Amino acid sequence: MTVPDSIIRLKDVHKTYQIESQKVPALRGVSLDVRKGQLVSIAGRSGSGKSTLLHVIGTLDNPSSGTVILNGHDVSNLSDQAASTFRNQTVGFVFQMNNLLPEFSAIENVMMPGLIAGLGRAPLRERAQKLLSSVELGHRLNHRPAELSGGEQQRVAIARALIMEPPILLADEPTGNLDKKSGELVEGLLMELLQRNQMTMLLVTHDPELAQRLPYQVVMEDGNIKDFGGPW
Ligand SMILES: Nc1ncnc2c1ncn2[C@@H]1O[C@H](COP(=O)(O)OP(=O)(O)O)[C@@H](O)[C@H]1O
Ligand SMILES: [Mg+2]
Repeated sequence: MTVPDSIIRLKDVHKTYQIESQKVPALRGVSLDVRKGQLVSIAGRSGSGKSTLLHVIGTLDNPSSGTVILNGHDVSNLSDQAASTFRNQTVGFVFQMNNLLPEFSAIENVMMPGLIAGLGRAPLRERAQKLLSSVELGHRLNHRPAELSGGEQQRVAIARALIMEPPILLADEPTGNLDKKSGELVEGLLMELLQRNQMTMLLVTHDPELAQRLPYQVVMEDGNIKDFGGPW
């Protein structure tokens, strides 16, 4: 049975890494249903499987077994090529380490997913400029990452994650490297953009207060979901 407005659906997802002869189980039978527009925090100890869960949901990695359905598409066994095309349209990522390209300016970094998808430069540039303004970086378009503060870099990464207008945003400790003040600014801008665009987000965080500020919460332990919080 499918839940009508389910946008992320996991059924009995396992992920086991193989390091030489050793098997490392990172996910052990995760099932989860996220509806469109839900903002969900994922908390849990280091090593509990949070990042692996985001990678598998974001098609950066295939599950060892089980099913992952995003936006109605079964993505459990996509080839690398199919996964990267699908991901470009469907999922935005913001990581703790923002992976901005150091040789490119802020606006070029934001435009990059669109250039990869073959969109026209002029409309992309306009959209990137709007997005950078909406994260209060309209005055930093031509700065390279090294010429920006950590908080500013994360705001560029958020703009880049949203340029393709994906329905899903996956964030792994997006404010983990920031001081309190820039963390709050990044969080505030992110929430505003998500709500304005009716996006769905899963956000991994170590910060219990941030976890509680999101309307839905998941707590992971030992490769599985231990608790659900919020009006699931
Ligand atoms: N690429 C990998 N290869 C092997 N083991 C991994 C890999 N990534 C994660 N793991 C292991 O999987 C488990 C879950 O890791 P991870 O998902 O990164 O946890 P968290 O993000 O909650 O800290 C850990 O035991 C970790 O050592
Ligand atoms: Mg992690």
